[in-house]
Amino acid sequence: MFFTKFPGMKNLFLLIGIVAFTISCKGKKTLESYTQIDTTYLTRGNAIAKLSFETLSGELQKAMQRGGIDSALRYCNLRAYPLTDSLSAAHQASIKRMSNKVRNPRNKADELAEFMIKGFGIDLSEGNAITPKLVLKDDSILFFKPIITQPLCLTCHGTPGKEVAFSTDSAIQKLYPRDRAVGYQNNQVRGVWRIAFKDKTKRFFN
Ligand code: HEC
Repeated sequence: MFFTKFPGMKNLFLLIGIVAFTISCKGKKTLESYTQIDTTYLTRGNAIAKLSFETLSGELQKAMQRGGIDSALRYCNLRAYPLTDSLSAAHQASIKRMSNKVRNPRNKADELAEFMIKGFGIDLSEGNAITPKLVLKDDSILFFKPIITQPLCLTCHGTPGKEVAFSTDSAIQKLYPRDRAVGYQNNQVRGVWRIAFKDKTKRFFN
């Protein structure tokens, strides 16, 4: 199990442990209420990630049906950000898709997201359960959930000349000259949803 073996991850858990301990030391919060935070944000994160995925892949499929792959490509190019931004505003959380092999450089994973992608990948290849993770960072609660490839995704993220038609590949190259998001197979970790919740009341952080 990557996430329990990896020393960096232990530190994160330790950090969570310390926060929980500090909270309980103040006499107001107990470890039990910390578990409550866990459950609350895992539930919210999962619901938002599911909705975001359904929104993006639903719109993508509609665009593919309307005008084929090339028009769907342009649709993703123009609409992926506005869609996640409006979901972020509606849910008062910052919703991002991050990857270690990006098409749009704005989606490049930071160090923590890259660590998560690696961990989810190892767990997936070892046949372990890949469960979402929560990390407390500064004044945010970060929720991470893997984005796994399906056969549909390979039309634009598979191997050029195989699942990706050459015409699609050249359309991708025009829009994204430094694209690295190809060569994927089915059931691989394509990236993560990173959903950041801010605790405005500072209840959990002091
Ligand atoms: C019609 C082509 C197309 C299909 C099919 C497609 N994508 Fe993409 N994907 C794109 C484009 C274009 C972008 C860049 C969007 C942008 O500019 O914000 C992208 C970006 C992404 C990103 C953000 C990281 C990055 O590389 O910029 C993820 C994650 C992703 N796709 C996952 C998937 C998954 C999972 C599927 C299948 C459910 C899928 N995609 C299907 C075209 C496609």
